[in-house]
Amino acid sequence: MTTPAVEIQARTLAGYAHASRLRQEHDRDWVLDHIPGEPGVLLDLGSGIGQLLQAALDRFPSLRQAVGLERSPHRIAEASERLESYGDRAELHEADLTAPGPVPYRADVVTMTSVLHWLYPTEERILAWAREHLAPDGRFLLTTYHPSRDEHGLGGEDDIVRDALTALGVRRADVPALFADGAVLPIATRTRAADELAVLLKGHFQIAAVHERDATVTVEDAGQYAHFHAATFGDYYGRLVEPARRGDFFAAVGEAARRRQEERGWVSHMPVRLWELTPRG
Ligand SMILES: C[S@@+](CC[C@H](N)C(=O)[O-])C[C@H]1O[C@@H](n2cnc3c(N)ncnc32)[C@H](O)[C@@H]1O
Repeated sequence: MTTPAVEIQARTLAGYAHASRLRQEHDRDWVLDHIPGEPGVLLDLGSGIGQLLQAALDRFPSLRQAVGLERSPHRIAEASERLESYGDRAELHEADLTAPGPVPYRADVVTMTSVLHWLYPTEERILAWAREHLAPDGRFLLTTYHPSRDEHGLGGEDDIVRDALTALGVRRADVPALFADGAVLPIATRTRAADELAVLLKGHFQIAAVHERDATVTVEDAGQYAHFHAATFGDYYGRLVEPARRGDFFAAVGEAARRRQEERGWVSHMPVRLWELTPRG
């Protein structure tokens, strides 16, 4: 039996350029709009397929070095291709941001978009690292997503997965225990509440400004959402079902999203924050 495309996509996190148009892409210009002056060095943490680095290199001729740190080798490979024409101005490193090693730069700008929740509960490490690698007058631009959560800590994408699991025959009330048994920490738990996060951030930075927008995801059909889910979350939630049922799982996620779209006019919406941070003196 051949493996369905959506399962291969989940394993390799492929198709992100297309899928991220539904949500993450909007962070890019928002963040770049808040870079002051003419930066020489930019570090992008969790740089994915290199889209922010590319947009920054195009927008700021002053950038001598745009450096991406990313864990997924598939994404690094895609980013390398995207950035090839920029020569030495672009640099990519495979790195685990939960245990980041030093790089020989003091950056004018550090960016991190749609990544921090993956580093829970050890975010302190990357915050300390960003502080150390920021020039004294530099700026750390960070975006964070804030889905509401229920009494089990589930919310945002977890809700759509809960609908999908229920459609596959799991009792709705059993879903939180299934997450716990599968060691899948709900994304809404990984995403700290804004006031809790502010306390963490203030340990390393001054909060110069906070901006907020609403990220509303709408979808044309079930297949489009299944691909968005696979490209964004990979096999993270897929672990909740046996390998033989993964194809059914992705299809059920797509179908759950389509139903929400039909009933509510959107699949999900949540506030996104852009934190403008400067080093604490
Ligand atoms: C939602 S994507 C965001 C990508 C990009 N920053 C954007 O805004 O489009 C999250 C990225 O963080 C990366 N990531 C997750 N955990 C990581 C870790 N521990 N170390 C390095 N990168 C990580 C993922 O591989 C993925 O590329």
